[in-house]
Amino acid sequence: MNYDEMLEKAVAWTDHQQIMRDLKSPLDIALKTSPDHAFLEIGNRYGGSTLFILWHLWQEGKGRALVCVDHNREGFEQKFFQNIMPYVIEWKVPFAYYVMDQTDFITKFAYQWNFALVFHDGNHEPEKVRFDLQELSWYITTNGMVAIDDARFDTALLKSSGLEQRDRAGGVLEVLQKV
Ligand SMILES: C[S@@+](CC[C@H](N)C(=O)[O-])C[C@H]1O[C@@H](n2cnc3c(N)ncnc32)[C@H](O)[C@@H]1O
Repeated sequence: MNYDEMLEKAVAWTDHQQIMRDLKSPLDIALKTSPDHAFLEIGNRYGGSTLFILWHLWQEGKGRALVCVDHNREGFEQKFFQNIMPYVIEWKVPFAYYVMDQTDFITKFAYQWNFALVFHDGNHEPEKVRFDLQELSWYITTNGMVAIDDARFDTALLKSSGLEQRDRAGGVLEVLQKV
């Protein structure tokens, strides 16, 4: 599968295509700077951003693992598996999937890993994000990267989507302003 084919699929599986554009630079940097460590995705839903990360690990990952975490409350686990597993198998990317709350993963299982890249796209409530970033910092390698979705928000977009600022982006923004 070439880059354009992968991108078309990944975009079809997510409702916010901007993710791929935003993820490209942190991914490229993490692939170059941290050769032996895993990548973590918090919030995978149907696997749009997951496919994007997986493809890069296949191309340049040299055996690096992808760890996904999602509590799957909306019951899309099967769709995620159908979308993603064929590529995990075909591309032989070491893969772990934790179906649980992101904070539970971070407190109970993250210590088993050493991450070169964390892509945080799960729950954006300020308390959660603050806790997650503080705790995860123990398990991110030197020169590792954190990419946070919805860190920058657009008031017009928020109004048009009918979401409260705090629901969508406010949590991340609030935390970043305090760091
Ligand atoms: C915006 S979607 C992720 C979109 C995905 N990155 C993509 O590219 O399509 C947010 C995801 O975070 C998950 N999520 C929300 N709160 C969570 C929590 N507390 N723990 C784990 N996953 C959570 C939701 O189930 C949902 O799949």
